[in-house]
Amino acid sequence: MFSTSIVACLAALLAVSAAPASRSECSTAGDTLNLPGSTSALPAPPAGDPSFIALGVGVQNYTCGATGTYTSTGAVAELFNLACADESAFNIITDVVSAAWQAAPASFTPQELISDLAVFHPAIVLGQHYFIANPTGGLSPKWDFTSASLAGHPDAFVVGARTGDVPAPTNPAVNVDWLSLKNASGDLATAIYRVQTRGGQPPTSCTLGTPDISVRYVSQYWFYGGSFAG
Ligand SMILES: *[C@@H]1O[C@H](CO)[C@@H](O)[C@H](O)[C@H]1NC(C)=O
Ligand SMILES: *[C@@H]1O[C@H](CO)[C@@H](O)[C@H](O)[C@H]1NC(C)=O
Repeated sequence: MFSTSIVACLAALLAVSAAPASRSECSTAGDTLNLPGSTSALPAPPAGDPSFIALGVGVQNYTCGATGTYTSTGAVAELFNLACADESAFNIITDVVSAAWQAAPASFTPQELISDLAVFHPAIVLGQHYFIANPTGGLSPKWDFTSASLAGHPDAFVVGARTGDVPAPTNPAVNVDWLSLKNASGDLATAIYRVQTRGGQPPTSCTLGTPDISVRYVSQYWFYGGSFAG
């Protein structure tokens, strides 16, 4: 079950090296979101420590539109507790996990990754990221910890509404945008940032009628506020 390099890689970096016995040992105290100059169009994060810092590993989904370009149809990702590692290692872990995820066999799905890691070390799984239909007929991103680290707390989710969107500072044709969002519902957080993105961008053009695609990505998600910090 644990034969793939992505699983071994995550386990080694997040679980074995930090050996967290529980989520409470994985502190965000003093961890500071770094927004470089090119991302200054994003609002500054709220003062104080983040509530959670997650490494998202999953796919961005796209469908081919009438104009011959891909449009987003959401994403699905597993959220690992990056705060179990030292902040100085966050970006290195993001790079290494991204490389392992990109190198995993094409047949290896996010669902397999999720179930393998949940079995292996539940303490490092915060929750899941996916999309839900919103009242205006579109899709909204949701981060949901109710089935993992905050099981038993039905409000431990947040649905996000975008407040900022800038191209990734590095290789924006490959790496999806950096984003800021606010809570549209849920008590998990009041501000969410998607930063340090690796992958996830679709090809620049497509042929109408071709199947939908899923593009692997990894990113950091920083959460502020909410009712469950600490
Ligand atoms: C994205 O695609 C994956 C398959 O690659 C699928 O499991 C998932 O449900 C899709 N999610 C959305 C929001 O489209
Ligand atoms: C967002 O969070 C703030 C602070 O907890 C709360 O006052 C507000 O009602 C929330 N907004 C929504 C739309 O849930």
